[in-house]
Amino acid sequence: MDANVLPANETAIARAARLLHDGRLVAFPTETVYGLGADAMNGRAVARIFATKGRPRFNPLIVHVPGLPEAESIAVFDERAREAARRFWPGPLSLVLKRRDDSGLSLLVSAGLDTVALRVPAHPAAQQLLRAAGRPIAAPSANRSGRISPTSAADVAAELGRRVALILDGAPCPIGIESTVLDLTGLEPVLLRPGGVSLERLTEVFGTIAGAAANEHAPRSPGRLPNHYAPSLPVRLHAHEARPGEALLAFGPDVPLGFAEVLWLSPTGDLGEAAANLFAMLRRLDRPDFSGIAVMPIPEHGLGRAINDRLRRAAAPRENAEFS
Ligand code: TXA
Ligand code: MG
Repeated sequence: MDANVLPANETAIARAARLLHDGRLVAFPTETVYGLGADAMNGRAVARIFATKGRPRFNPLIVHVPGLPEAESIAVFDERAREAARRFWPGPLSLVLKRRDDSGLSLLVSAGLDTVALRVPAHPAAQQLLRAAGRPIAAPSANRSGRISPTSAADVAAELGRRVALILDGAPCPIGIESTVLDLTGLEPVLLRPGGVSLERLTEVFGTIAGAAANEHAPRSPGRLPNHYAPSLPVRLHAHEARPGEALLAFGPDVPLGFAEVLWLSPTGDLGEAAANLFAMLRRLDRPDFSGIAVMPIPEHGLGRAINDRLRRAAAPRENAEFS
């Protein structure tokens, strides 16, 4: 494999921390997807993330810290934000908050906004890396912009290869879908991206959660473009019967016949299992021997919302691909 991959042990993590100090890029596992990390206080290192991913500069990055005290030195926390942190950190929730003037973050991280998205990952290797680095780490998903997020070190290597100084291998990501992004800068919490923490769980804690209206996406969450997570093959949703040459992502026990190949997101209809398999299986089916990828209907509740969100983007028309 033409990439620098090391198992995420103590020695490799210490080396990764040194590389981050030197302004280099390190890919590392989190419980959601693999991240492409850089020192969030080093503008040139952050710029390298945008260049390596081919990511538009208007799309801000999530900043990763080991715990709430570090988060509080970067953004302004009120009681509601502290409650969110107590309930869901460490874990798959990113909070959008006002940046502190003395945060020390590169301005590029926030793409010119006066807010910052913060996350405390639970994955032990991510925790160890953040503590060893001793500074906030900006990390988008470790894929080229517009493509499927990687959930294994091999997928990162296939996406970025030698363009990253080191890839820490921490086995496949247990959640497999990105963090939920919740905007807490306004009167009402706003869901900017469904993800690993379900809307139902957020609603238990905060009451009503507004969804970002479609026409608000651009200003509020610049990265939420319709065309994202795009495999090379066309993706067809809510499939009930086969079309010639198609491969199928199946969900639940009753699978229609006639597909060229079938991979099961979850044979029992378990949404957690389906989320964990989604990106890896989309990658496996994205081969020229098939005419397209069909996906059976996924229920729109719990993690199903995040799964359907990613699938809708994977299936969206491709004409805006250069911005995604
Ligand atoms: O699970 C995850 O969140 C992964 C792992 C590596 O932590 N990271 C990730 O990052 O998915 P990325 O860059 O692929 O997605 C970040 C999302 C984008 O939709 C971006 O627009 C939004 O968060 N975002 C970041 N900062 C923001 C801000 N200040 N205001 C609004 N949205 C923001
Ligand atoms: Mg991403």
